[in-house]
Amino acid sequence: MSRLVIISNRVAVPKARGAAGAQGGLAGALNAALRKNKGIWFGWSGQEIEKFTGGINIQRADGVTTATIDLEHQDVEEYYNGYANSTLWPLFHYRVDLTEYEREFGRGYERVNERFAESVLPLIEHDDMVWVHDYHLIPLGERLRNRGIKNRIGFFLHIPWPPTRLFVSLPYHERLVRSLLQYDLIGFQNNEWLESFLHYCRKELEADVNEETGEVTLDGWTTIARAYPIGIDYDHFMEKGETGEARQAQQRLMSSTRHRTAMIGVDRLDYSKGLPERVDGIGRFFDAYPERIRELVYIQIAPPSRGDIGTYQQIRTLLEQKTGQINGARSEVDVVPIRYVNRGYAQEELFGFYRASKIGLVTPLRDGMNLVAKEYIAAQDPQDPGVLILSQFAGAAPQLQDALLVNPHSPDDLAHHIRLALDMPLSERKARWDKLIGTVRDDNVIEWTEDFTSDLAAIPLAED
Ligand code: G6P
Repeated sequence: MSRLVIISNRVAVPKARGAAGAQGGLAGALNAALRKNKGIWFGWSGQEIEKFTGGINIQRADGVTTATIDLEHQDVEEYYNGYANSTLWPLFHYRVDLTEYEREFGRGYERVNERFAESVLPLIEHDDMVWVHDYHLIPLGERLRNRGIKNRIGFFLHIPWPPTRLFVSLPYHERLVRSLLQYDLIGFQNNEWLESFLHYCRKELEADVNEETGEVTLDGWTTIARAYPIGIDYDHFMEKGETGEARQAQQRLMSSTRHRTAMIGVDRLDYSKGLPERVDGIGRFFDAYPERIRELVYIQIAPPSRGDIGTYQQIRTLLEQKTGQINGARSEVDVVPIRYVNRGYAQEELFGFYRASKIGLVTPLRDGMNLVAKEYIAAQDPQDPGVLILSQFAGAAPQLQDALLVNPHSPDDLAHHIRLALDMPLSERKARWDKLIGTVRDDNVIEWTEDFTSDLAAIPLAED
């Protein structure tokens, strides 16, 4: 079996692993992929140094070999905080209003992709399969090809692909997509993002697009684009649920909420997650049903993310104001409606919190997939499952149609669905959960890895 060389911006050392919500789904998924396949995981250490050296730090832990490089301050500013997270991230989440287009960001992005290519090159053996992940590294495949790499190279995008009309607002959009087309196989989270991408290729590049097979041919080179919805590491997560830590966490939450229904949200503190909108919906619920204040407690776990970027600082301030306002207006001396926590928790603890919560709130304005939704379902007690309220704009929505689907922009819609969830009889909760759990269990991350890598392996090697 050939080795897998996984390349992503963020490399999560297994020991430091948190939940999908705390670190994003990518890191957990890639850990699982590498526990199944021989190989290495290459990326940025998360550390800044004075001057880039290209020195590689190799470590082995929990059956996974990681190789990391440090970046210099200017790289982090222009590539990570800049082009990746102030240009591509907002644009790909349909937030043209938050997107910044700075020339230096683009230069930093190109430079760091060069650095990645140069540094990872000596680690790639001739029959390895190379799998590049996410928006930070779109040009990397082309950079590797320029250095003579003939291996199969796949790419997976963990976030949405925006509609063509939005995407063309990116200066040099054509150059970015042309470099993406250098991969052998390109994966998206669902058909909506795939269709947007194919539409762009057809309309803007006049590429030859086969909608059936996903083949895109441009200038004599063909690449394949398909949807591979990512899943959770189901067996591993369920094992975590068997631990004493998980049971203790469940108990802790249950005894602190007593006779109130716990409603939980777990999200990186990111504007794409729709957190202020969610709090507005909860406010609307309490406005409509003030007598139910003693029935419901909302627990929001929101580990801060990308805190050097202005838009993230703003969303944090806004969220603090809104939760503060509702707690100020609605609390009694013995009842506080919202518990707002700015830290991450281990997966064991989250399992327990999810199980103790009879409502799970996952209401992003736009999200590539969202694995918190799947973890919430996996953690439920089959005899007494909770209700998942899910945004119709999450990438997971097409797969999880038996959740209560909501429009996260509408406080009334959210308030209405919170009431439905609170009052839902056990028989309906069970019927919905029975359908949801099948998808979560079967379409797991092991299947995802297998589907993508076997399709990549089946692609004939490029001619010399
Ligand atoms: C999302 C992205 C990942 C990223 C994660 C956490 O899930 O798709 O690529 O790693 O967020 O964000 P961070 O900036 O902390 O790596």
